[in-house]
Amino acid sequence: MKKHKDFISLSDFNPAEISELLDLADQLKKDRQAGKCEPILKGKTLAMIFAKSSTRTRISFEVGIHELGGVGFYLNSNDIQLGRGETVADTARVMSRYIDGIMIRTYSHNSVIELAKYSTVPIINGLTDLEHPCQVLCDLMTVREFKGQLKGLKMAYIGDGNNMANSLLHGAALTGMHIAVATPRGYESDPVCVSQAQDIAATTGAKIETIHDPDEAIKDADVVYTDTWISMGQEDEKKERMAVFSGFTIDRTMMSQAKKDAIFLHCLPAYRGYEMTAEVFEGPHSVVFDQAENRLHAQKAIMVKLMQDG
Ligand code: CP
Ligand code: NVA
Repeated sequence: MKKHKDFISLSDFNPAEISELLDLADQLKKDRQAGKCEPILKGKTLAMIFAKSSTRTRISFEVGIHELGGVGFYLNSNDIQLGRGETVADTARVMSRYIDGIMIRTYSHNSVIELAKYSTVPIINGLTDLEHPCQVLCDLMTVREFKGQLKGLKMAYIGDGNNMANSLLHGAALTGMHIAVATPRGYESDPVCVSQAQDIAATTGAKIETIHDPDEAIKDADVVYTDTWISMGQEDEKKERMAVFSGFTIDRTMMSQAKKDAIFLHCLPAYRGYEMTAEVFEGPHSVVFDQAENRLHAQKAIMVKLMQDG
């Protein structure tokens, strides 16, 4: 795998590189289970900038860098001068003098690209309004763990065409999956991400479908995925979204149209009674906590690939 400076979008990686990252994530998981966490990033520092809330991303990155022998620290973007108007470019150049890597969760995807442009250290995208690539690397790891393969499997994503849907389109395309994304009209995935996925799919044999009928999407799916209807920053649209998404709840009847051995995934946090029923969330298909655990292993793989010397 060529040395990438940053991890901003899955679409920056090729299928072989994704597979290499997944293999490393599996290895790091096995090592940890065997009680061996090698200090591969001994003495390295990771700054984590958050402009939005987080449970999984914050904790798994902090534990991950610690287990790799380094140190991570949390920065609320409002507590640093970035929140008072210091530019992204200046912040990037200053931080590059102190630390070895930056993970950032923010609103604007372009800000992350700008940070990467001006920093000399790796930038990891911990979620933007457009993409959530760390989550999807973990999701691919989870599907492979439960299904033994990725290529040829059908994934149904039902709900908002948001950052999760955009990155899942990239991830499915890169791994040769069939992805059917069903959203209400007007809430489709980003057209650039869809077209990137289609271009990648032409080389991997993946199938990309963007439709509006959840029943069609879930039919014979191996993997069923959903996410909140109201992403961070969309709180003001709650009333309108609740009405628009009302036919998109994954309940037992909808789930029964997937394959018998389908797995149910959710990036979390989940809102029972909205994007899925409590019964589906807690039911036999759900592997959401195994999925959440894999954030740790997948992100350790990302940090090793980006931050290891040499
Ligand atoms: N799935 C995810 O990114 O969770 P957090 O918002 O808790 O980090
Ligand atoms: N789409 C959600 C994902 C949370 C992990 C959001 O952006 O809030």
